[in-house]
Amino acid sequence: MSKVIAISNQKGGVGKTTTAVNLAASFAALEKTTLLIDMDPQGNASQGLGFNETQEEDIHELLDLAANPEQLSYDTIKNAILDTKLEYLKVITAAPDLAALEIELVQAMSRELRLKRIIEILKPYFEFIIIDAPPSLNLLTINTLAASSSVLIPVQCEYFALQGLAELFNTIRLVQKNLNSGLKIEGALLTMYDNRLTLSKQVADEVRSCIPENVFQTIIPRNVKLGEAPSHGKPVILYDVQSSGSKSYMKLAEEILNNA
Ligand SMILES: Nc1ncnc2c1ncn2[C@@H]1O[C@H](COP(=O)(O)OP(=O)(O)OP(=O)(O)O)[C@@H](O)[C@H]1O
Ligand SMILES: [Mg+2]
Repeated sequence: MSKVIAISNQKGGVGKTTTAVNLAASFAALEKTTLLIDMDPQGNASQGLGFNETQEEDIHELLDLAANPEQLSYDTIKNAILDTKLEYLKVITAAPDLAALEIELVQAMSRELRLKRIIEILKPYFEFIIIDAPPSLNLLTINTLAASSSVLIPVQCEYFALQGLAELFNTIRLVQKNLNSGLKIEGALLTMYDNRLTLSKQVADEVRSCIPENVFQTIIPRNVKLGEAPSHGKPVILYDVQSSGSKSYMKLAEEILNNA
C-alpha cells in the first residue's frame, strides 16, 4: 500500500521543503520506491534536487490534464516523472508558473481534486509519495491535503511557532469532512532545534502540550549542512551523510516506518 504524506504548514520558512526533500531521500536510501511532488510555485524542492530550470513537463501540466480525468493515464503522466541522483527517488517538479494555475483553479470545476486524480494513478508505482506544499492555505494546499493519506507538520522551534496552527488544523478538519475522510495527522515535527537555547526547549514543550499524541520523537536539529545541501542540488544524505541533519532525517524515516 502506498503512503502519501503531505508536508504542510502555511507558516513560511519552517522547514517544509527541507523535510520533504530529505525525508523522501531517506526513504529512498532505505530502498523504498519514493516520489517527491513539488506543489510550491517557489520550486524549492525541485531546486534542492538540482532542477533549477523549468522542466518541459511538470506538475502544472499534470494538474491541467487532470481537469479531464479521461486524459489521465500513467502514459500521459510518466514524462513528468524525473530521475534523481538516488536510484529509488523520482521527482515531479514545479516552477513559478504554477502560481497562475492556482488563480485559474478558483473558477474551475472539481478544482480541489486534480492532484488526487494524478496520485491515484501513481500510487501503484511508489511505496511513498511525499508532497511539498506551499506556505499558504490556498487551492494548491487543499489539493495536496485532499490527495494525501497523512499530513506531517514541521514546526520551527522559534517564537510564534504555534501561531497559525489552529488555522491549519481547521483546514485539515474541513478537508477531512468534505474531501478526504481518510486524512490522518502523521505528526508535528520539531525543526531547527538548538539545544543550547532555552527557547528551543520551551517551544518543544509547548508543542508537546498542545498536540501531545502527535509529536515525533525525532527532532531535527539546526544543522548548517541542511542549509548548504540544496545549493549543491543534493539531499543532505548525498552531501554529508555523517552530519546531524542527515542522521536525523534517516531517524525520522525509520520512525515513520515503525509507526506504520
Ligand atoms: N534544520 C535546519 N538547520 C539549518 N537550516 C535549516 C534547517 N531546516 C531548514 N533550514 C533552512 O531554513 C530555510 C527555510 O527552510 P525551508 O525552505 O525548508 O522552509 P519552508 O517551510 O519550505 O519555507 P517556505 O515556507 O518558503 O516554503 C532554508 O534556508 C533552509 O535551508
Ligand atoms: Mg518550502
